[in-house]
Amino acid sequence: MKHEKFAKESFVTSAEMVLPNDTNPLHNLMGGRLLHLMDVVAAISAQKHSNRVVVTASVDNVSFKHSPKLGDTITLEAHVTRAFNSSMEVFIRVYTENIPNGTKIETNTAFFTFVAVDQTGRPIIVPKLIPESEEENKLFEGALQRREFRLVMAGRIKLKDATSLHEFVEDINN
Ligand SMILES: CC(C)(COP(=O)(O)OP(=O)(O)OC[C@H]1O[C@@H](n2cnc3c(N)ncnc32)[C@H](O)[C@@H]1OP(=O)(O)O)[C@@H](O)C(=O)NCCC(=O)NCCS
Repeated sequence: MKHEKFAKESFVTSAEMVLPNDTNPLHNLMGGRLLHLMDVVAAISAQKHSNRVVVTASVDNVSFKHSPKLGDTITLEAHVTRAFNSSMEVFIRVYTENIPNGTKIETNTAFFTFVAVDQTGRPIIVPKLIPESEEENKLFEGALQRREFRLVMAGRIKLKDATSLHEFVEDINN
């Protein structure tokens, strides 16, 4: 197993057309269907980084800014932003395109956390991630605070132990 991998090695892009069975009575894509597609694409990205079976540990803050419509094309782009011990944060961005009309807009973004597991479902160490571009570095830097925030929200760590969040609050106060 490699000890370090580049963010670009985990890039995944997928395109889907919104079909009648994916929509509500207003012919808009159902939110749960989009979450399913996002989960699959993000999981493939985490697998590419870890070369392991991965499980979804959490999904952060998905807001639907626009609703993809029947016949639209949705494009999902994902990559790992940072790897910790067994867990990886994946950033995913979704675009909706109406190809006949020539329009393309960002529909939503989200952060997924996946944990690499062995054949018995136990967490297993993953390679570190090396960011290269400006955006990859920005996402990498922010990942520690987001990790602590979600672990506090999940009741897995205490706020007093979330040291990077303390620094964040100090920065705001100064
Ligand atoms: C995620 C899971 C593997 C964690 O197992 P665990 O025995 O609690 O393991 P640990 O406490 O050692 O945590 C392992 C990693 O998961 C991370 N993790 C656990 N819960 C998390 C959460 N809610 N959000 C983000 N990360 C989480 C930990 O921070 C740790 O990361 P690290 O190894 O990089 O430091 C386990 O809870 C699980 O299998 N959950 C079900 C996953 C699943 O089925 N998802 C699909 C649902 S339909």
